[in-house]
Amino acid sequence: AKITFITSDNETIVAEANSGSVMELAKDNNVNGIDGDCGGVCSCATCHVHVAAGDFDKVGAPGEIEADMLELEDNYNEHSRLCCQIDISDAIDGVTLHVVN
Ligand code: FES
Repeated sequence: AKITFITSDNETIVAEANSGSVMELAKDNNVNGIDGDCGGVCSCATCHVHVAAGDFDKVGAPGEIEADMLELEDNYNEHSRLCCQIDISDAIDGVTLHVVN
């Protein structure tokens, strides 16, 4: 799947992978603002993104633990996800994610 990241300083990075998590893909491509401090176990929220409005249905809603984490974040909104919890598959091909710092 091809994923477009837009950083808070408006850099656009297009990256592609077939498996793993979106957080890992972002790290592999040096996407600024995705730190992944907890290694992808849903406990640090340094992988927060806002899914582009038209893409949210493709990506889907957060799970319960993830939603609890997100609600504590300053920039939480209805399109928030922790991208370590998004698995890469064809289902999310073409989505755009705005990095939240
Ligand atoms: Fe820590 Fe996603 S990498 S919550």
